[in-house]
Amino acid sequence: MSAYPLFDAHPRLAVLPRAGIFHEATPVQPLPGSDGAWIKRDDLSNAEFGGNKIRKLDLLLGEAQAQRRRCLLAFGYSGSNFVAATAWHGRRLGLDTIGLLLPQADAPYVADNLATCAAAGAELALGNSSAALVSQALARSLRRLAMQGRWPYWMPPGGSTPLGALGFVNAAYELREQIEAGLCPEPERITVAFSSMGTVAGLAIGLALAGLRSRVVAVQVVSEQFASRAKLDRLIAQTQALLRRYDPAIPARAAPVEIRTEFYGQDYAVPTAATSAAMQAFQNASGARSDSAYSGKALAGYYADLALGLPGPSLYWHTFNAERLPPGVPPLPPERLGDYLLRAGR
Ligand SMILES: Cc1ncc(COP(=O)(O)O)c(C=O)c1O
Repeated sequence: MSAYPLFDAHPRLAVLPRAGIFHEATPVQPLPGSDGAWIKRDDLSNAEFGGNKIRKLDLLLGEAQAQRRRCLLAFGYSGSNFVAATAWHGRRLGLDTIGLLLPQADAPYVADNLATCAAAGAELALGNSSAALVSQALARSLRRLAMQGRWPYWMPPGGSTPLGALGFVNAAYELREQIEAGLCPEPERITVAFSSMGTVAGLAIGLALAGLRSRVVAVQVVSEQFASRAKLDRLIAQTQALLRRYDPAIPARAAPVEIRTEFYGQDYAVPTAATSAAMQAFQNASGARSDSAYSGKALAGYYADLALGLPGPSLYWHTFNAERLPPGVPPLPPERLGDYLLRAGR
């Protein structure tokens, strides 16, 4: 199986540069203990630092390299999987990373992602609002321009540009190949976390183009400020426009997306009782770890739907990085977490 079946189906897209961090289809496997339930193991998308960011970064970092940038600039919460994955894979490609971070509630993965950023030599800065982060990003970019002669390659939270989302258009074609090879049935529903929206936008487009009947169940894990139907529709339209810029014969289609907000709970990364129960059940059944910000809440939604006994096979798209830390990265001492976390009253 090729890593880019989308490009095999639409060869004009094959001119898009890739960084070479996404190598092969991620496994599909049954979820033990639940009839007709399947898992797509994007946690295994890269052996050193995997998860759903790898598909986006393969294209984004490919573009940064093609533009001969020296530095990557990424936004996220303190424990951002995206910023850590950018720093780790960017370093491997010889690119610096500036990470602009918003403090967040504590969760076990936060220290690990900060440790990964530190080991990759990322330059990190904190701000208490999006506006503060953007002004820091401008100041630091100007400094890089003066030092390196190049403006950093800016990426929005989660890498969810239309180009990043193409990684998930490709993912839907990959799933179709796996269905055709008899590795799993065609799902009625695909449940996945919904945050910066690139994963859902790309999947919705890819499923429709690949001719799969699946609809997407998007479990919202951030506030409406960051993810909503209107914002998703805009990203879908922009991603379709990007596809059609390369190949005008590609129709502007997208599979139905059902946005589910009831599993979010009180705040970003703060688990509800259903989140914690779903994370435990999933670990017991599959052996894979999950997190309280994204995959745990998506799993709460998935298990709730399984309990309803809805007809037809279903698939849970697992997006969290499988390994706690990349090879050789020491854990971060808890006292170094300080300002990266939200404190009461702040
Ligand atoms: C582990 C994990 N799962 C899911 C998501 C959601 O993906 P997206 O930002 O494309 O909506 C993210 C990204 O923020 C993530 O880090």
